Amino acid sequence: MKATIDIRNKGPKIDRHIYGHFSEHLGRCIYDGYWVGEDSKIPNVRGIRSDIVEAMKAIKVPNIRWPGGCFADDYNWMDGIGPKSERVPMVNVHWGGMVENNHFGTHEFMDLCEQIGCEAYICGNVGSGTVREMRNWVEYLTDDRESPMAQLRRKNGRDEPWKIKFFGIGNENWGCGGFMEAEYYAHEYKRYATYVRNYQAMGKTDWWKAPQLIRIAGGSNAEDLEWTETLMKKIPSSLMGGLSVHCYVKPGEESHGTVFTEKSWYETALNTLKKEDLIKQHISIMDYYDPEKKVLLAVDEWGIWVDNEPGTHPGFLYQQNTMRSALCAALMFHIFHKYSDRIRLANLAQTINVLQAIILTEGEKMIKTPTYHVFDLYKGHQDAYYIPITWEERPERIERNLPQIDISASINSEGDINITLVNISASTNAKGSLDFAGEVPLRVTGRILEGDVTAHNTFDNPDNVTTKEFTGFKVENGKIDFELPPCAIVCMEVGTR
Ligand code: AHR
Repeated sequence: MKATIDIRNKGPKIDRHIYGHFSEHLGRCIYDGYWVGEDSKIPNVRGIRSDIVEAMKAIKVPNIRWPGGCFADDYNWMDGIGPKSERVPMVNVHWGGMVENNHFGTHEFMDLCEQIGCEAYICGNVGSGTVREMRNWVEYLTDDRESPMAQLRRKNGRDEPWKIKFFGIGNENWGCGGFMEAEYYAHEYKRYATYVRNYQAMGKTDWWKAPQLIRIAGGSNAEDLEWTETLMKKIPSSLMGGLSVHCYVKPGEESHGTVFTEKSWYETALNTLKKEDLIKQHISIMDYYDPEKKVLLAVDEWGIWVDNEPGTHPGFLYQQNTMRSALCAALMFHIFHKYSDRIRLANLAQTINVLQAIILTEGEKMIKTPTYHVFDLYKGHQDAYYIPITWEERPERIERNLPQIDISASINSEGDINITLVNISASTNAKGSLDFAGEVPLRVTGRILEGDVTAHNTFDNPDNVTTKEFTGFKVENGKIDFELPPCAIVCMEVGTR
C-alpha cells in the first residue's frame, strides 16, 4: 500500500463534536455510573464520580447528549430540580421499569458537563411532553434575566444561566418517541422548535455575538431515507440547525460480547464500512435541499450493539467491549472525517456501562475499554482539517474483499499531521508507505492499540488492552514506511516544520 498525504489538499474542519458521547438514563449509565451521590465512599464531587470525570477530560470529550434516547420522550425535567428530598420519583418505562429517584437532574447534568469542560446536548420531550414544558426548560437553562424560569433556577441554587450548544427536539419519534409518521413529526417539530428560543441572545442589543443554540430534529433509523427527505423538505433551515440519524452496527451472527471468532471481526468491519453508503444517501438528500450545508448531520447515536453480558438485567444493555468494538469505532470515525463538511456532531452510545461504553464500573472499580483508547488515539483529529488520501497503490484485499488497511489524516492549526491507521487483518501484518508530496516528516511519534479480536479489559485485568508506543516505522527519503501488526489501530503524529 502506498499513499500520499498532501497538505495542500486540506479539506473541511473535523468538528470536535463528532467525538461526542450519549448518556441516557438506562441501566447503570447514570445511576451507579456517573452518579454515586454525595455520601458515597467513592471519591466524587457533588455526587459525580471523579475518576470518570478525569477519564473523560483526558480524551477531551466535547459534548454529552442527555437524558435519552427513548428515555427523553418520557422525561419531565421539572421532577429533577429542587431539593433532592422533595424530588418526585419516576418509572423508567423503556429500560427495565426501574423507579428512579430523580436525584440526577438538570443541575447535576450541567455540573457534570462543567466538571468535564464539555458542551451540553439536551434532548427534549416531544413524545409525552408539551411545547410549554420544553420552552420552559430552555428558559430555565439559559435565561439570564428576571424571567420566571430563571428565577426558579436561582431559587434552586444556580444564579448564572448555563450555555446550551445543542437541543434535540425529541428522539426516534418514528419509534419509542411516539410512533409518528414523518409528515406528522415534521409538523410537530416546527411547533416545538418555534418555542425553543435562544435566550442566550434574547433581549441583547448585540444578540449576534451570543452563542448559538442549535436545534436538532430527531432523525431516522439509518435505513429510512424517506424520513430524512420529508424533514428536509418540510422544515426550513431557520428552524432546524441539525438533523440526526442513528447508526448501530451489528457484529454478524456471533454477537456474544467476548466469545466470537474472526468471522465476526470481519463482519463487523464490513457492516461498519457499509454504513458509509447509507450516510452518503442521507447526505445526498440533505445536499439537494440544503446545498449550502447549513443543516448539520448529527449521528447522535452510533456504535456496535452486541449481546448483554450473561447474568445482567436484560433491560440494562450492559455489554463487554473488545478489540472488535474498537475496530468499529476506528472505522466509523474515518467515515465521519470523510464527510466532515456535513457530519458535525456525533455521539457514541453510550458512555458508561451501556452498549459500546468507554467506561465500565463495578463498585469503586472503573475500567477503560478498548473503545476508550480509540477516542484517546484519535483526539488529535479534533478540530483539525481533513486531508483526503491519494492512493499510489491501494491496500491489498483480504477476507470479505475488505481493504487490509483503512486510513485517515488531518492537519491541525500548528501544522502537525495526524494519521490514524487500522490493520483490518486479524492474522497478517500490513506494510505500507506514506509520502507527503514534498513535505519532509521531521518529527514522527506513534501509539498503538492491539490485541487479538476478543481482547478486552476486566476488573481483574484492567490494562490488558491499552495504548503503547508504536515503533514499527522508519522515516527515509521524506517517506514513512510502516508495518502494523494484525488487528491493530495506530495513530502517528507527524511534524513537518
Ligand atoms: O441507545 C439505546 C436506545 O437505542 C436509545 O434509547 C434509542 O434512541 C435507540 O433505539
